[in-house]
Amino acid sequence: ARMIALVPAAGSGSRFGAPSPKQYLQLNGKPLMWHALATLAAVPGVDEVAVVVSPQDEWFDGFDWDLPKLSVRRVGGASRAESVANGLAALACAEDDWVLVHDAARCCLSVAAVERLIAALSGHVVGGLLALPVPDTVKRADADGHVAATVTRNGLWLAQTPQMFRAGVLENALRGVAAEDITDEAAAVERLGLKPLLVEGDAQNFKVTYPRDLALARAILAARED
Ligand code: C5P
Repeated sequence: ARMIALVPAAGSGSRFGAPSPKQYLQLNGKPLMWHALATLAAVPGVDEVAVVVSPQDEWFDGFDWDLPKLSVRRVGGASRAESVANGLAALACAEDDWVLVHDAARCCLSVAAVERLIAALSGHVVGGLLALPVPDTVKRADADGHVAATVTRNGLWLAQTPQMFRAGVLENALRGVAAEDITDEAAAVERLGLKPLLVEGDAQNFKVTYPRDLALARAILAARED
């Protein structure tokens, strides 16, 4: 079976408030998403790194990505799920191919974390995702911002990416849900009644969401270059 990394990068980054989408911001001399693409391309088992950008994207062609295995599909949609579904359709995978969906904005992904995921899922029929046990005490708020309840964190995990699924499973899962409010691929797979495996990720694999996240990403990437 082939193993394809699929990176949805068709978001506008509205929470970020920069003129260009955050995936194209310069970070340590490269576009932000270059770092994750480079990590995925460096994983020996990965055959192709396919980026999904918006049909109106004005930035992708402006960079010399200079990465092996890289391809681009200009089929981004209105939601992340739609971008992934469109990318999958464009890739024409076999049912048992593996697809590793990774957020363009998780730029500090490490090769070790991806290899841990791949190793944990060897022979698995469905797939799974990197995730971290919730380290803090979790509160549910009421409408006035007071604590309504303390939620036991036992068994709670924070979902990361890559989320790695058999292509056939992912296609079935995303069919019909693309426009709905799912925020990761695992949620779509769970709706089929399937159980993705949770594989320990790492704290460095956070998603750059706000400008304040950039300093941490810079420091992590700079330390790796030493
Ligand atoms: O907005 P958020 O940070 O959750 O986006 C997660 C990932 O999904 C990002 O890599 C973003 O570029 C991508 N995305 C997409 N198409 C959309 C919305 C988000 O590819 N319509």
